[in-house]
Amino acid sequence: MIGKNLTFGKSEEKLLREKDRSMTRNKIIAGNWKMNMTPSEAVTLLETLKPLLHNDEVEVVFGVPAIDIIPVVEACKGTNIKIAAENMYFEEKGAYTGEISPGMLVDAGVRYVILGHSERRTYFHETDEDINKKVLKAFEHGLIPIMCCGESLKQRKQGITMDWIRQQVKVGLQNVTADQAKIAVIAYEPIWAIGTGIAATNVQAEEICKEIRECIAEMYDTNTAQKIHILYGGSVNADNAAGLFIMEDIDGCLAGGASLKQDFGKIVNYK
Ligand code: 13P
Repeated sequence: MIGKNLTFGKSEEKLLREKDRSMTRNKIIAGNWKMNMTPSEAVTLLETLKPLLHNDEVEVVFGVPAIDIIPVVEACKGTNIKIAAENMYFEEKGAYTGEISPGMLVDAGVRYVILGHSERRTYFHETDEDINKKVLKAFEHGLIPIMCCGESLKQRKQGITMDWIRQQVKVGLQNVTADQAKIAVIAYEPIWAIGTGIAATNVQAEEICKEIRECIAEMYDTNTAQKIHILYGGSVNADNAAGLFIMEDIDGCLAGGASLKQDFGKIVNYK
């Protein structure tokens, strides 16, 4: 099993080579549509947003509901936009009614997969161990995981934010090799900032993203820590995005509500 995880798909190898060549991390500006947009609404939204995206230096990713993936991939043909699934199961195939396999996502043209979002942890009881199985399976298929982590307001007040996040990161990346970790994406999304309109300040977000990078350096090495992408998510909007993106350890964002609006264009064109 572990041996299998060490093998890379061709696309993953290519990505790694590209990343090795680049000295600095490019920004990844991702949207998470959550359970919004029917397939026809999704295509209409994409047609509205596409002409607004004018920044070739960033990787634009839309995380869309499973049923929207095929029409959205089609609508993005001929652009650099990448599509993410919002979840995935860790088995290859079989009697798992209602689940979506990694092979299905790859075949549909998906590049990234959001894993372990706090909404999935809270409402669908996903554990760090489940998320780890999904992360490993995503890599096996050449999908890039966007692994989410983040503390509740209670945990922040208790002063255990970093203990909690370290556990999420360490268990979530168990048995992930350094080469795989280099192309992984971690999204730091404090639960208290999601959908509340109260984003973390850029200083607060940087503090945690920096500590996540330090945690990666301890788990692997500084080179891996310098390559991994760490995004911030939680009430990102057109007004606060640029301030977040100037911080050293914030490599972009995972935007929820703002990714469903023209605001997303402003976030992408932040400079
Ligand atoms: P909002 O941007 O709507 O706060 O959502 C953030 C989020 O959960 C992205 O995954």
